[in-house]
Amino acid sequence: MKTKTVKGNWCRRTTNFGFPSVFLICIFFFLAGFFGSALFSHSQEREDDPRLMRRPRAMLLENSTEEETEYRLLQAGESGDDSITLIPFQVLSWFPRALYFPNFASAEQCERVIEMARRGLKPSTLALRKGETEENTKGIRTSSGVFMSAAEDKTGTLDFIEEKIAKATQIPRTHGEAFNILRYEVGQKYNSHYDAFHPSEYGPQNSQRMASFLLYLSDVPEGGETMFPFENGLNMDGSYDYEGCIGLRVKPRKGDGLLFHSLFPNGTIDPTSLHGSCPVIEGEKWVATKWIRNQVQDD
Ligand SMILES: *[C@@H]1O[C@H](CO)[C@@H](O)[C@H](O)[C@H]1NC(C)=O
Ligand SMILES: *[C@@H]1O[C@H](CO)[C@@H](O)[C@H](O)[C@H]1NC(C)=O
Repeated sequence: MKTKTVKGNWCRRTTNFGFPSVFLICIFFFLAGFFGSALFSHSQEREDDPRLMRRPRAMLLENSTEEETEYRLLQAGESGDDSITLIPFQVLSWFPRALYFPNFASAEQCERVIEMARRGLKPSTLALRKGETEENTKGIRTSSGVFMSAAEDKTGTLDFIEEKIAKATQIPRTHGEAFNILRYEVGQKYNSHYDAFHPSEYGPQNSQRMASFLLYLSDVPEGGETMFPFENGLNMDGSYDYEGCIGLRVKPRKGDGLLFHSLFPNGTIDPTSLHGSCPVIEGEKWVATKWIRNQVQDD
């Protein structure tokens, strides 16, 4: 009964509208329909067209405050995270596979690690090949260093860094050796070498170093670059003397990370992963190295 009254009312009212009102109402609905559909198709495009999705994403890199709202999370598995981890990186090279992670750790974290390591420093040693002795390899690696596991660090800094490295590489923490924290003073260096152990020189390996993560703990005013002399196949004609500071060079900057792979995806050693540390010319170079194995490490 009630509805009928309302209907009747509405009809009577419309009949009372003059021609101009009807015309205006028509225009109103036309415009509303037009803009409504334009808005709708725009949001449809944003959903479907990856090119349109990309623009706001690219801007996110410059605009860190809005990042979190722009990502749509999925339901994670039992072992996954219910949050997004943002770890910006730059591909430095494909030969070797090398990634650069600016601002991987904070300045305070770097300083804390240096303070812990300083007390335990000892001259760095080499894994000796057949026929090599400490005496005849003197001068190849002149830094000082100390091994520290994340568990030894009661401040939790190394634990945080190790966890972040595991996330960035998705190689479980159990595959990492203890951190080797190194100090290079003026003139100190590490001639070019491989982190992986070539079976022809070191014998068969049950567990191979597959990748290395370097966290630079200090700025170095001059020198101290990590160099990859054979990057992209360069300088591989046999003339390289393993001392020259050539090829791709990565300048150490406090808090920045560098990851490179020593093995190809098929498990053989990548010859372009040869690398060294150029002599420090000014200042001090501090770096935390994490060697990552292809087998679980029993510490
Ligand atoms: C966000 O990005 C826009 C466009 O690039 C820029 O104008 C604005 O200053 C940025 N805001 C912040 C907080 O960085
Ligand atoms: C392994 O991969 C590298 C790089 O793709 C290739 O050059 C090499 O021939 C491969 N070795 C074997 C044994 O498959």
